[in-house]
Amino acid sequence: MSLLITNIGELVTNAPRDAVSVASPGPFEALTDAALVLDDGHVAWTGPATQAPSADTMADAEGRAVLPGFVDSHAHLVFAGERGAEFAARMAGQSYSAGGIRSTVAATRAASNEQLRVNLARLAAEMLAQGTTTFECKSGYGLTTADEARSLTVASEFTPEVTYLGAHVVPPEFDGNVAGYVDLVCGQMLAACAPHARWVDVFCERGAFGADEARAVLAAGEAAGLLPRIHANQLGPGPGVQVAVEAAAASADHCTFLTDADVDALACSGGTVATLLPGVEFSTRQPYPDARRLLSAGVTVAIATDCNPGSCFTSSMPFCAAIAVRDMHMTTQEAVWAATAGGAHALRRTDVGHLGVGARADLVMLDAPSHAYLAYRPGVPLVAGVWRGGERVEDGRLRSTS
Ligand code: NIG
Ligand code: FE
Repeated sequence: MSLLITNIGELVTNAPRDAVSVASPGPFEALTDAALVLDDGHVAWTGPATQAPSADTMADAEGRAVLPGFVDSHAHLVFAGERGAEFAARMAGQSYSAGGIRSTVAATRAASNEQLRVNLARLAAEMLAQGTTTFECKSGYGLTTADEARSLTVASEFTPEVTYLGAHVVPPEFDGNVAGYVDLVCGQMLAACAPHARWVDVFCERGAFGADEARAVLAAGEAAGLLPRIHANQLGPGPGVQVAVEAAAASADHCTFLTDADVDALACSGGTVATLLPGVEFSTRQPYPDARRLLSAGVTVAIATDCNPGSCFTSSMPFCAAIAVRDMHMTTQEAVWAATAGGAHALRRTDVGHLGVGARADLVMLDAPSHAYLAYRPGVPLVAGVWRGGERVEDGRLRSTS
């Protein structure tokens, strides 16, 4: 059944205007007074509303904006427990450190698979209601072979973008034996986890893993068929970005403390995306990453939530885009591109993050006339409807087109 959505005030396509079909996300692009046809789960046509072909069914957007569904390329959603008190202490002056991760590890180990599944399902539904139609999900709160493997199994029930993060921190039973833990992560744990994941990740940071350890984890993951990505330069300057570029990682995530050499390395990398996670800086009171410096250097920038119980417990891509505009000085177009097409690049996906003909029919309708309202009206639930694979999955507050 095809669907024509017409009377779209602004249609953000991230696809060249005259392209007949588009194989991957292009630069930010938007049409006004537009229409869109969905057929068989894909975008079949976009263009001026006055030239729209007919379809089996029709919806009137009444001037609202339609965007590609958000692509959240960085989230830690398999966990139990919460760390609200840690957040409150931080707001009262304590600083964030990687150590808090261990308390979530203890709660996660004690949880049943069903508890982990219920928690993830709630967060996935929360994301979808806010327009996220593709998300990545990491392990990293199990840190035993069995707990990492079951975390990945649960994650793969919800998304194909599953990331093995056995190298999140060194668990307490390996205190003083980082090498022994890295051997486990690269050996028995990897063997049990690789069949359930697409990606391998490592937290390369003081207090977590150093450059050589990160290289070893990424190389072992690649040998097991996983694709590399990395947590880099979050809490201070360090080697993470250089390790990412050396490994041709799809993405270096955080990028909060970068040297000129790091920016150059990303700019010359030929494909390593800088994924910025502004919700983390918001929730930890760290300085924001310098998005303008990266964009000026020609680095591909994505925005993601990093949703996790410690450093940033928001699942909202609109919120992160709003902070990126307000506090990181990205334009509204740059922020929306980074939250859609940028995330798709960071996940090496060509079928999402844009609404070119042939793209997956993943889209968000805003109860607003343009994408700029995501930052102009921060904190307001603007998502009026969500389609994933051509199916309407969230009604939001839009009643008139159903
Ligand atoms: O991306 N940086 C490492 N991991 C998470 C934090 C996880 C936590 O604090 O529980 C992050 O910020
Ligand atoms: Fe993270």
